[in-house]
Amino acid sequence: MKPIIAGNWKMNGLAASVAEVEALIAKFAGSAPDDRDVLICPPATLVANLAAKFSDEAIQFGGQDCHANSSGAHTGDISAEMLADAGAGFVIVGHSERRADHGESDAVVRAKAEAVLRTGLTPIICVGETEAERKAGKALDIVGAQLKGSLPETVDNIVIAYEPVWAIGTGLVPTNDDIAEMHGFIRTKTRKDTRILYGGSVKPGNAVEILAIADVNGALVGGASLKAEDFYPIVMAAQGED
Ligand code: 13P
Repeated sequence: MKPIIAGNWKMNGLAASVAEVEALIAKFAGSAPDDRDVLICPPATLVANLAAKFSDEAIQFGGQDCHANSSGAHTGDISAEMLADAGAGFVIVGHSERRADHGESDAVVRAKAEAVLRTGLTPIICVGETEAERKAGKALDIVGAQLKGSLPETVDNIVIAYEPVWAIGTGLVPTNDDIAEMHGFIRTKTRKDTRILYGGSVKPGNAVEILAIADVNGALVGGASLKAEDFYPIVMAAQGED
């Protein structure tokens, strides 16, 4: 399975951030390796510019969220069609920061994932438990319920990202056994060829170890995707497709 190393820039990045993508490509000595998918999800304001500028470089670009409708009276929102039009290939949906900051339910996340599929793009559907839920021994139940509620009907072309909320931006990471248990569990709920990414404090120092765990088919990287010098070793830490 071809791994995906995806950077989620969150609400970071200005026009000048083009230099960071240039620096990443320079490290690849020209073009990103094609045995792995290299994806950057910048703020929506930058998708069109970056996708146009780097269309030949084997780096793909994606959105961080979208509305479930294709157009209409939804001030401030962006549709999957608009992201596709801007050159995106993927859209993250259901990130825990959106579930928390905007009260997005599983049903809303599913509708967004359906919208992404409708446009021919690939949704990256995020799930993950809070610290309290893990401590209460409920991590598998919570993630199982999120999957049940958030996955679209058609699961041919989806990516799932397991991001424990307590590991995001904290420097904390589950044990390898806990990651393996969760990814193995998610595998039982989806297809054999669905890529399951791990996200939460992935850094150059832990990426090789995490990406070698069974059923970890890539990473969704926040803070460490903002600088080429950090993101590059994470991209290269993945075992490329044979
Ligand atoms: P960090 O890598 O900064 O912990 O963020 C993970 C994340 O939320 C990616 O979507």
